[in-house]
Amino acid sequence: MNRKYRRPLIAGNWKMNKTPSETREFVTGFKAMLPKLRRCDIALCVPAVCIPAAVKGARDSRIAIGAQTCSAFASGAYTGEISAAMLKDAGCKYVILGHSERRAMGETDKNIHAKLLTALDSGLTPILCCGESPEQRELGVTEPWITMQLRAALAGIPPEKLRTVVVAYEPIWAIGTGQTATPDQAESVCAHIRAVLRKQYGAKTARAVVILYGGSMNGNNAAQLLAQPDIDGGLIGGASLDPQKLLCIVEAASCEAE
Ligand code: PGA
Repeated sequence: MNRKYRRPLIAGNWKMNKTPSETREFVTGFKAMLPKLRRCDIALCVPAVCIPAAVKGARDSRIAIGAQTCSAFASGAYTGEISAAMLKDAGCKYVILGHSERRAMGETDKNIHAKLLTALDSGLTPILCCGESPEQRELGVTEPWITMQLRAALAGIPPEKLRTVVVAYEPIWAIGTGQTATPDQAESVCAHIRAVLRKQYGAKTARAVVILYGGSMNGNNAAQLLAQPDIDGGLIGGASLDPQKLLCIVEAASCEAE
């Protein structure tokens, strides 16, 4: 990570885990464990029904709360959907968009682009996920694939808005598998992401964008991954469900930011 231009972010992605009561318990415990020094930003992206409990529990702490998706529409007859404006009003700061698990459920680049626009309009910080499948890595098409995903999601986004977007590189083969990308593999794609942004937006804007790595990050491998120049933090699934494990990653990011 480059502390001169960017602040590290450790974001938990709870996926479909924990009830509101469990959320309350987790946030209370985690808050008490956190080091006082604010060397990195911390977010918990929780299931929608857990947002009120998480926001309440995280009050007066450095923990920001996020959602895991939002509707592509501002309001209307979309049964079951939750708008970006609702999430913002409920106290969210972040929203994960385009996670591979949602793409696997049918979310397209076009949907993700529409969601990104509404998230930005509502003042949320999108955490835009991209990443290749094992087959794509095998075929050697990782970079063009990521370029395509970024271009599709970010089409028409002006530079001042791009600065508020967080990009998460999550190779599908590393998510929940324990098969973490090596620091070199992760850095090479994160540097590519920054190069794509640089080409489109110029060096000054590209160097301000926070890029996360996600995929089996844990307390043992976080320090090495976070030491890479273009990896500014992590999107953490499994390890974010245990306060002690998440704390280890926060500590690795905080040391790295000394
Ligand atoms: P993992 O999940 O840390 O459990 O691999 C990461 C993610 O899906 O965001």
